Amino acid sequence: MSSRPRVLSGIQPTGAGKHLGNYLGAVRYWASMQDENECFYFIADLHSLTITPDPAELRAQTRKLIAELLAMGVDPDRSALFLQSHLPEHAELGWVMSCLTGFGEASRMTQFKEKGGGNGGNVGLFNYPILQAADILLYQANRVPVGEDQRQHLELTRDLAQRFNHRYGATFTVPDPYVQKTAERIKDLQDPTAKMSTSKGGSGTLWVIEDDRATLKKVKSAVTDAGREVTYDVDTKPGISNLLTILSVVTGTAVPDLEVQFEGKGYGDFKAAVAEAVLGQFAPIRSRFAELVADPGYLDEVVKHGAARAREVASVTMAQVRDRVGLLPSS
Ligand code: TRP
Repeated sequence: MSSRPRVLSGIQPTGAGKHLGNYLGAVRYWASMQDENECFYFIADLHSLTITPDPAELRAQTRKLIAELLAMGVDPDRSALFLQSHLPEHAELGWVMSCLTGFGEASRMTQFKEKGGGNGGNVGLFNYPILQAADILLYQANRVPVGEDQRQHLELTRDLAQRFNHRYGATFTVPDPYVQKTAERIKDLQDPTAKMSTSKGGSGTLWVIEDDRATLKKVKSAVTDAGREVTYDVDTKPGISNLLTILSVVTGTAVPDLEVQFEGKGYGDFKAAVAEAVLGQFAPIRSRFAELVADPGYLDEVVKHGAARAREVASVTMAQVRDRVGLLPSS
């Protein structure tokens, strides 16, 4: 069991829920990695404090996300599913790592510059990637599935692991990023040149959990392009190309094969097929989600169990770190 590679990933609880891009580009892979790896998956609730969400909303969104992740295929019998804030080791190792991170190094993080670099930003946004490095290193993870936007944070994580190991002796596994590009490719249905996003929401975002009718309506009213051929060309036909990507990823059929399949058919038929495929994909997830949210006691139990499993690993790493850097034991 412990000879299997260790996989770790995190996802933030902020926003109305998870969308098609999150599912196809991230959580679906989490689920598929459970057979061959020892997986640790967590909800990055500490990270989401960087946007100072309303406390009641954060609680509700965190509970919802536990159910969404389970419904999307995270299996608590095979993987540890937990909340980051249930293990103080994350923040503790984050502090140690922040003392090894250069000010300039942290300032260069693209996401920080985009989201918090200005005067209005908080220090949490500055520390964000350092806490993320701690998340990963605590579990001695070998592989970290993330989207393209997290690549730089993974590089920082590797640098910090190597720096620590060099200064204090071999302590951390240097993790390999496992970057998926699918999420980048799923675009907003109303603005197919932009990534489908949580913050944008609106009728261009397909939530994994929403009414079937809402999904149907959004797909039917997705922007299309001039002409009437169902062909892939991101530059001249971004709308149709996006729908082709979605259909291709959902059905596992290559885009050229789909083009052949829809030759001579109009946009209407094509959109109906996309809607059907997406609804088919979501159907079991939605029904499972409905069962899960009706049982909050079970959700609490899952993350409690997950935290206990996570603690077995995190406490060992943290004890070693304290010792290596020269902190005295407490007893
Ligand atoms: N920053 C990641 C994101 O927004 C979430 C995250 C936090 C994470 N800690 C992590 C991802 C550790 C992978 C590993 O997507």
